[in-house]
Amino acid sequence: MSNSLLILPGDGIGPEVMAEVRKVIDWFGARRGIAFDVSEDLVGGCAYDAHGTPLTDAAMEKAQSVDAVLLGAVGGPKYDKLDFSVKPERGLLRLRKEMDLFSNLRPAVCFDALADFSSLKKEVIGGLDIMIVRELTSGVYFGEPRGVFKEGNERVGINTQRYTEGEIARVARSAFELARARNNKVCSMEKANVMESGILWRDVVQEIHDAEYPDVELSHMYADAGGMQLVRWPKQFDVIVTDNLFGDMLSDVAAMLTGSLGMLPSASLGAPMANGRPKALYEPVHGSAPDIMGTGKANPIACILSFGMALRYSFGKGEEADLLERAIDKVLADGVRTADLMQAGDKTPATTAEMGDAIVAALDASV
Ligand code: NAD
Ligand code: IPM
Ligand code: MN
Repeated sequence: MSNSLLILPGDGIGPEVMAEVRKVIDWFGARRGIAFDVSEDLVGGCAYDAHGTPLTDAAMEKAQSVDAVLLGAVGGPKYDKLDFSVKPERGLLRLRKEMDLFSNLRPAVCFDALADFSSLKKEVIGGLDIMIVRELTSGVYFGEPRGVFKEGNERVGINTQRYTEGEIARVARSAFELARARNNKVCSMEKANVMESGILWRDVVQEIHDAEYPDVELSHMYADAGGMQLVRWPKQFDVIVTDNLFGDMLSDVAAMLTGSLGMLPSASLGAPMANGRPKALYEPVHGSAPDIMGTGKANPIACILSFGMALRYSFGKGEEADLLERAIDKVLADGVRTADLMQAGDKTPATTAEMGDAIVAALDASV
């Protein structure tokens, strides 16, 4: 089967970290005989600059036809004043919505070499391996009515939290399936104490569990308490399933448990395509980091690990993904650090390119 991959580097540090992913893709081609049919297009502010839209219809069609999409990041201060409909972030949201990528997997794994680096104590995060499953195509991000309206003499901003039971059921199934392949535990987070959509969320997750996954251990938690528990004792969790907005926030919290936003990858998965592979988009959790763009400080690991998730979930190459993760582990254990992973007293940081080169060298040494 061919392996088609659409790369959308995007804005800010997106192209910088993607250049390092390219080295890794080339390595798998040259050394492991896994050829990728790679094409590239624009998304975000750079697409707006070139075409007046954050995602052209042609790029959208390409995304629909490939085995996997790999995205860098979108956005930046240059585009903050643009009309809402053409903001860079709209390009990413269009991809997620039109590809129907309802299940967003955001793992938070603590690499041993970074256990000292987190702002939390080593015993709290050492060996941490949790998976946040964020619903990605509905909820307050997409609910109607929405907009800024005039009400009498003042403006009112409206967004709507809306979930159908079908939308909750399918992401719940995705979480239960993942849990079965891990430590068999799911914690579902909502705010059923204040939101009707939260009550429905809790009920549907429980129903799917009782009918189809009674073997998986299920618990429910209010999302605010969940944030607190993530910081207090994150190792109590295995899989967390939650809605679009809570998942956005909780996954940023989880990212910092592991040391840096520059470390956290993600996979956004939809229904299986004709070839049996899921519709899929892979991207780091971090954004375009305009504050460090062009300085060589960007950590490419989140984006490289996102490619690793593509190997695992789209291309059926779990062992190759393991190889890549072990190479990153080795590089970190050897003390190679980009600026975001430095502590007081550390020597000069590695640049983005030096980190990419070190990972390729570790891959070379491993086979
Ligand atoms: P951000 O993730 O871009 O940056 C937050 C902080 O983390 C910054 O200090 C940044 O320097 C640091 N950081 C992020 N990634 C890093 C990396 N790989 N290596 C080292 N340091 C890293 O979030 P923000 O500043 O809130 O947003 C900036 C822009 O990015 C906004 O326009 C936002 O909408 C967009 N954004 C895009 C995505 C995406 O494309 N998926 C995600 C989040 C934010
Ligand atoms: C993320 C980002 C996006 C989101 C933005 C850029 C649309 O924060 O992927 O976490 O809010 O989903
Ligand atoms: Mn986010």
